[in-house]
Amino acid sequence: MLIFTVPSRCRRSRLNTAARATPEFKRTRLAVGAPLSQLAPVLDPYPFRLFPNPRAGVPGTVVLPAGGFRRARAEITSWPDYAPTPLRDLPALAVQAGVGVARLKDEAGRFGLGSFKALGGAYAVAQTLVTELARRGVTLAATSADLVARRHAEVTRTITVTCATDGNHGRSVAWGAQRFGCQCVIFIHHTVSQARADAIARYGAELRRVTGTYDDAVREAARVAAAEGWFVVSDTSWPGYTAVPVHVMQGYRLMADEAADQWAGAPPTHVFVQGGVGGLAAAVSVHMRARYGRPPCLVVVEPDRAACLLASAELGTPTAIPGDLDTVMAGLACGAPSLLAWAELERAAAAFMAVPDEAAIACMKLLARAGIVAGESGVAGLAGFLLAAADPAARETLGLRADSRVLLFSTEGATDPELYRHLVEG
Ligand SMILES: Cc1ncc(COP(=O)(O)O)c(C=O)c1O
Repeated sequence: MLIFTVPSRCRRSRLNTAARATPEFKRTRLAVGAPLSQLAPVLDPYPFRLFPNPRAGVPGTVVLPAGGFRRARAEITSWPDYAPTPLRDLPALAVQAGVGVARLKDEAGRFGLGSFKALGGAYAVAQTLVTELARRGVTLAATSADLVARRHAEVTRTITVTCATDGNHGRSVAWGAQRFGCQCVIFIHHTVSQARADAIARYGAELRRVTGTYDDAVREAARVAAAEGWFVVSDTSWPGYTAVPVHVMQGYRLMADEAADQWAGAPPTHVFVQGGVGGLAAAVSVHMRARYGRPPCLVVVEPDRAACLLASAELGTPTAIPGDLDTVMAGLACGAPSLLAWAELERAAAAFMAVPDEAAIACMKLLARAGIVAGESGVAGLAGFLLAAADPAARETLGLRADSRVLLFSTEGATDPELYRHLVEG
């Protein structure tokens, strides 16, 4: 089924060599070039990788149907403590980066949990319970309000949800389990900080540590869940396991929806968004296509030590990368793409980038100076944008110009406050 076309704003990045040689293309380049020589780079020129997606714009499949998002929005916005997070204008940064507009959706305050992940995992817990109540013939029409009111507590308290996490998703699932009245066991790998573990335990979840990486914890959670009859509420998906991650990603879309509602003036031309397993980037991508006739050019930015989406794009197939994924961007330290996310991103992302830890830390400091608290996994998109904006070849590839309008997402605040202080003040 054909569902989208090439976003024309970054079409130049996919021109072949012959097209680049035409006089018409050369004229275009000269006409759109920003006066880069007059700009002081905002970041040091850290090395980065940029891979324009050769498959961008090829017809794809619908991974997140519109009806599912409408349900997610209705449910989540009905939660009593719901409030949209701010979209912050960064005019000075836009000038320094040589674009027209730069705005940052700031997720630090989301539901008091510190990250956008509060939208996904908790909503998927509610949906898992609603589905199970229907399957057991208890009710076909439970809502999250019914669960909060403990209307079916005799059933829900016998249900256990579980997942693997590097911090934020587990916090959301544990919070959702507490809010909606079921049991919760969270698997964390051995490098997840104690502060992040404590933050999850605060919501009453049992924690289990696993040797290895996030991906090892994902496998262990699935294995134990199968043995115990628990329900996996994962933020990643794999063959045969997609229904729950769809709910997670539908929840994420609310962040993009708010951003589009808050966006004043002509729509964004570019979105730089960070990638772990890709669920966030795919949700943003789907939503940008749903909201805008001409969707912005979407660039997915990962840590250079955990760039499984970039590797997948290079090889043209979902690819797991080896190694210990040792990056300060803990939430993005994922070695394998989510199947669902990849189904969206392989055709809808204009490009993939990989950036070093140093660039992320510099961005945390830069935002801190502007009074914005952004954690280490929350700034990769900003790092990618600033590095690309300061690099003439990357600007040209991505079609970044003096009149570009760039949407960024700071997806977490200081979710590990001690580490945040150490990185920003250090
Ligand atoms: C703060 C933050 N930003 C971005 C991401 C990336 O999300 P995804 O794994 O869906 O790509 C994560 C994942 O945990 C995260 O914690």
